[in-house]
Order: sequence, then C-alpha cells, then structure tokens
Amino acid sequence: MSEQLFIMPGAGKNEMYETLLPQLSSLVSGETDLIANLANISAALHNTFGWWWVGFYWIKNNELVLGPFQGPIACARIKFGKGVCGTVWKAEKSLLVPDVNAFPGHIACSSSSVSEIVVPVFDKENKVVGVLDVDSERFDVLDETDVYYLEKVGRIITTIL
Ligand code: SME
Repeated sequence: MSEQLFIMPGAGKNEMYETLLPQLSSLVSGETDLIANLANISAALHNTFGWWWVGFYWIKNNELVLGPFQGPIACARIKFGKGVCGTVWKAEKSLLVPDVNAFPGHIACSSSSVSEIVVPVFDKENKVVGVLDVDSERFDVLDETDVYYLEKVGRIITTIL
C-alpha cells in the first residue's frame, strides 16, 4: 500500500469520498491490527476533509472508550445512551447533529465543536462494536452526504473485524 493518499485537488465532496474510499479499503486490507487501521482511517479522513476532530470510540466493558483519533484531546469514556455517541450506540443508527447546542445531553469535549456526525460501527454479526465520530467547528460543513459515506467507511471496518 502506498503511504500517500491521492485526492483530486478542488474536487467536490462526493468525488473526494469516491476517491478516498477505495484507498481506505486497500489501506486496511494490508494490515490485520485494528488499532493501526482505525488510526490510519482517522488520519486519512482528517487530512482529506480538515475536520476539527475525527476518531473512534470502541465498546469496552460496556462503555465507549476513546480510540484512535485526530484532533484535540477528548473525553476518554462515554456511557451507553449518553451524549451523541452513546445515543448512537443505543439506537444503532447514525446521527447528524447540525447544532450540538440543540442536542440535549451533548457531551462537550471541546467548545469549538458545534456540529457533529456519529455513525455506528458493526461487527460481522451486526452487533455495534464502536462508533465513528466527526466534529466540526462550523455549522455548514457536515450533511447527509457525509453520513452516507461515513456509513460506508463503517462497512469497510466491518470487513476487517
Ligand atoms: N460530542 C460527543 C463526545 C465526543 S467528542 O465530541 C470527541 C458526544 O456528545 O457524544
């Protein structure tokens, strides 16, 4: 696997994801270590889209525990049903939160983050094993297109679990 990602300069969001996703598949198919793969996926997403924070929380002993990420330090543990991440774990469905101030119980790891997307990551038995969390410091960046493609990223991870 090449150590560089190729993303078309000036491409639109769909095109960027369409270019990135096959490279992510190829990146993780050559490595068996989960942490290494989650770390590279976080870095690839962060480098490509420049979001404030992107990373993983993984379920350990019935809690979400901070995993590989890119961005400022974040809360280490989140309980089932708490915050956006815990809600997604419970509901087993992605959430787009355009304004975190309007989400009751949102866990503010950083006051700079104003909108977010969290998608569940499933194992091959369709059980939630973690979440992918993206945070933006802008209100107008994250949308349903991101949800659509981030769920595809989640499915790429399922293939290596
Ligand atoms: N905002 C999340 C907490 C994680 S941080 O944003 C990295 C939540 O409410 O679940």
